[in-house]
Amino acid sequence: MNKATRRAVIAGNWKMNNTPAQTTALINEMKPLVAGADCDVVLCVPYVDIAAAVEAAKGSNIKIGAENVHFKASGAYTGEVSAEMLTACGVEYVVIGHSERRQYFGETDQTVNLRTLAAVNAGLTAIVCVGETLEQRELGYTETLLKYQTKMALTNVTADQLKNIIVAYEPVWAIGTGVTATADQADEGNGFVREAIAEMYGKDVAETVTVQYGGSMNAKNADELVDKVNVDGGLIGGASLKAEDFSIIVKAASK
Ligand code: PGA
Repeated sequence: MNKATRRAVIAGNWKMNNTPAQTTALINEMKPLVAGADCDVVLCVPYVDIAAAVEAAKGSNIKIGAENVHFKASGAYTGEVSAEMLTACGVEYVVIGHSERRQYFGETDQTVNLRTLAAVNAGLTAIVCVGETLEQRELGYTETLLKYQTKMALTNVTADQLKNIIVAYEPVWAIGTGVTATADQADEGNGFVREAIAEMYGKDVAETVTVQYGGSMNAKNADELVDKVNVDGGLIGGASLKAEDFSIIVKAASK
């Protein structure tokens, strides 16, 4: 990562795991292990765990995120949660367009863009996920797809709002599979994302944007991944459910 122009961010994505009681216990275990980190530390948790997470993280360097947000401010949208509701609960970050949302819940590039705009307009930092499937990679579409998804997600986001945007490159074939992209593949994918941002906002602005890698990043491979110039931290699924493993990744990004 290039610490001269941007900040490394390690964000856990708990997915559909942990009750409020388990949330409190896990964050209490993590707090001393990640104290003093030289990177931002975020935990994105299920909606029902937000109150417990915000309470447990008080006074520590752990910031709390949600795993999704709706794009409307309020109204008849059963099951949805607005950006204002999240900020009112002490949430500062939100994951948007995760491949599991795209794959299982009908998320499209258009709705990813709407959610991203709603998040940054409310003052949340959006962690916007992009990534190719194995089939798309094998057909040679990785660069085209990553640039397309990035540009679609950031449509109508101003250069100023970009300060509240993190993009996470998450190859779909590496998520939850134990198959990690090589450090070079991660660096290349993150580089495509940064190029797309440069094409929209200019090279200098693109150099300031945090681009994470995600997909089976763990305590063993984090060092090598964050060593790459374009990898500004990670979005961590499985390994964020274990305090010790997560803290080792935070330490790798703090170097
Ligand atoms: P994983 O998940 O680390 O379990 O592969 C990453 C993610 O989905 O953000």
